[in-house]
Amino acid sequence: MIALKTIFAQIEYSMSEKDFIPAPYTTLKEEGTVTYSSPSNIALVKYWGKRENQIPANPSISFTLAACVTKTNVHYKKKVQNRDEFSFDLFFEGEAKEEFKPKINTFLKRIVAYLPFLKDYHFVINTSNSFPHSSGIASSASGMSALALCFMEMEKAFLDNITEDDFNRKVSFLSRLGSGSACRSIEGPLVQWGETASINGSSNLFGIKYPYSVHEVFKNFHDTILLVDKGEKQVSSTVGHELMHGHPFATQRFDQAHSNLEKLGKVLADGNLVDFISIVESEALTLHAMMMTSNPYFILMKPNTLSIINEIWRFREESNTHVCFTLDAGANVHVLYPENEKDIVFPFIKEKLVPFCQNGQYICDRIGLGAKKL
Ligand code: PMV
Repeated sequence: MIALKTIFAQIEYSMSEKDFIPAPYTTLKEEGTVTYSSPSNIALVKYWGKRENQIPANPSISFTLAACVTKTNVHYKKKVQNRDEFSFDLFFEGEAKEEFKPKINTFLKRIVAYLPFLKDYHFVINTSNSFPHSSGIASSASGMSALALCFMEMEKAFLDNITEDDFNRKVSFLSRLGSGSACRSIEGPLVQWGETASINGSSNLFGIKYPYSVHEVFKNFHDTILLVDKGEKQVSSTVGHELMHGHPFATQRFDQAHSNLEKLGKVLADGNLVDFISIVESEALTLHAMMMTSNPYFILMKPNTLSIINEIWRFREESNTHVCFTLDAGANVHVLYPENEKDIVFPFIKEKLVPFCQNGQYICDRIGLGAKKL
């Protein structure tokens, strides 16, 4: 059994881009509608730095979230002419959004080799987020994965048979081409992306559901997201990833991510929250340290980000709880804590941390199980 598992893992490991080019379609439906909801995710070991075609410079792992989701509905209708171009209308929360179209167009260009039907249809895409618009919550992971899911659902109808594993792998592969971290949003509760020796089946091309045992304590883990600053980021993730080329600490950072992932594997199995905290907080601060030491350097944290971190450290010490923080590429703080400590930690968050949020805004989220067809 173990030997067979290893063989399958090796097959996945050696998959290449061309394995995602489909067999000829058996039918092409004239018209139809698909709807998916797909969540955001929060990385525990961070992806920061990439090579061409969204290949990560280091492996990462994330908790899939439950409440922060994008819901996307795609209506498709076969075109009679103009088969050389993409054709779509885009509505965000009910309003036509011309400014979002170039990003979608780039995404379509990147994925058309793997979904050759894309130029045969006109699409009407309706999309909305469960979290407040411009809250500083990255919507690219949930947004790109929701759209990739809708397109894959179409392909599924055009092919004779596609297994659930093949479906998930290809959606993750396509989502990655929209936004790297989006490839970790399809399944849950934990998804790993990027080749690394300690995880069988890990791939640079797609995320995989974390394949090893996970301790009870991580069930229903909470992530209360504190919206510290909702403004536009001065430096985008795309530019930040780019700045890891020639970064003075790049090699050490990429090695550290492999080693942190290996250490985290042990923690996820034995449920040691003290070790969990030290890996997760160090990863968050290292991500920001990379930003502060790149050329040009930049800072995405705000004074209130640091005030919140200090309050968390003070409270953890005096309460003997296991609350900790992590950060995305922004000023907002993700406060992580286990289900069995929520009655102590949540009142602390409301009383001591929410005052640091812009307009007192925060989102109560928790670990989730992935995307859903609606
Ligand atoms: O998916 P991107 O290109 O927006 O990069 C996201 C990078 C981080 O959110 C900072 C880390 C991560 O692993 O999600």
